[in-house]
Amino acid sequence: MPTLLRIDASPRADNSHSRSLADELQARWLDAHPGAQVQLRDLAKEPIGPIENDTIVGYYTPEGDMTDPLRQATAQSDMLIDELLGADALLISTPMYNFSVPAVLKAWIDQVVRINRTFGFNEDGDLQGLVKGKTAYITTAIGAQFTGTPLVAMDFLRPYLKSLFGFIGFEQVKIFSVESTSMDENQLALSREKSLAEIADLFAKEVA
Ligand SMILES: Cc1cc2nc3c(=O)[nH]c(=O)nc-3n(C[C@H](O)[C@H](O)[C@H](O)COP(=O)(O)O)c2cc1C
Repeated sequence: MPTLLRIDASPRADNSHSRSLADELQARWLDAHPGAQVQLRDLAKEPIGPIENDTIVGYYTPEGDMTDPLRQATAQSDMLIDELLGADALLISTPMYNFSVPAVLKAWIDQVVRINRTFGFNEDGDLQGLVKGKTAYITTAIGAQFTGTPLVAMDFLRPYLKSLFGFIGFEQVKIFSVESTSMDENQLALSREKSLAEIADLFAKEVA
């Protein structure tokens, strides 16, 4: 059964713009994949811990040399990577916090972007992503208006996520945003409508 892994990062359970846009995208994805399921990971309800010294040691220790403390320190990473690799597609909803990702999402990233599991080196010694054949859908909510304003130079959220998921091998990274959520209701409505139309268009093409 096809699985969409959905990761939510906003602490706002209600009235979250990033979650609301993800709800729409999820509905379209389910329409396009009859019989599919959604696996939900809510980082606000169940935060991921920061990596520790033994986590890092474990990341670089060959399987045959792993000890029980190292296995324990990398167990959460193993579980989260298995969850990611087991899914057919990824949907992340996230706010912009201080021009980048919120800490709960960064903690998840530090557990899943891992040497020899999600990225490694090819025979020529070049870095390569190890996640194959998947699309990442990302919905973001941003308080100010960035698109079309000088603030876009301080957007370290969307370029970062696009580069990061490309780096670990995602074939496609598609980002949809709601901007101006704490500024201007008209601009907010316009950016939401634009993103909803883009989502509808994308899945209309996928189904066609
Ligand atoms: C801690 C914090 C940091 C924020 N940083 C920014 C920021 O750097 N730029 C911005 O435009 N909005 C910022 N905002 C506003 C949020 O991006 C905005 O409220 C967004 O809608 C939150 O996503 P949500 O609606 O899914 O919860 C910040 C909000 C909080 C609480």
